[in-house]
Amino acid sequence: MKHLVAPSVLSADFGNLQRDCEMINNSGADWFHIDVMDGVFVPNISFGFPVIKTIQKHAKKPLDIHLMIVEPDRYLQAFKDVGANVLTVHLEASKHLHRTIDAIKNLGMKAGVAINPHTSASLLIDTIADIDLVCVMSVNPGFGGQKFIENTYSKVHQLRDMIVSKKSKALIEIDGGVDLNNYTKLVNAGANVLVAGNTVFGSKDPSATIEQLKKV
Ligand code: DX5
Ligand code: ZN
Repeated sequence: MKHLVAPSVLSADFGNLQRDCEMINNSGADWFHIDVMDGVFVPNISFGFPVIKTIQKHAKKPLDIHLMIVEPDRYLQAFKDVGANVLTVHLEASKHLHRTIDAIKNLGMKAGVAINPHTSASLLIDTIADIDLVCVMSVNPGFGGQKFIENTYSKVHQLRDMIVSKKSKALIEIDGGVDLNNYTKLVNAGANVLVAGNTVFGSKDPSATIEQLKKV
């Protein structure tokens, strides 16, 4: 499968959100990556439903919503209502992960599970067969524009082996510090979805940068 690219709206210009959504629509990007932070699970607050509704209004591609919040179960329906296609919760924020994955899928969304840099990929062994996407955090969540953590490659290899041995269909998504220097190595290691915030929106020509990230 050719890898997907999901620009992270966190790095967009919120004064020109419609323009940036249209840039993504007209580019080679595959998904919109949308980061929701509550200031409790992570030391930052991003945005909530009114902003996501605006993105939903303009987006012509699937919404990949990454919840960096405690008690995600309280809001699954609400994220479905604002158009989530893929809904990702953090393993570290979930008391009953299996139940949460089921609930997301029963609402008609793809279920994603994100793991922080300190969390071993092996903790997914009993749920990987039920998961549609594993989001490997390659920075500590909370902020865009941070430095990529090199240990991510070994996690991707571990997950690839686990996905094969458990006959899982899960996609491996890499989130944080993806740039033009590391994306090829990530895809070669087995990454299926590349999230990119600063690399896309901090560049002179975001659309051309997305094109570049699609090339292997
Ligand atoms: C980090 C977020 C990321 C972030 C990535 O907590 O989950 O999605 O937007 O940004 P970059 O690509 O700038 O590291
Ligand atoms: Zn994210």
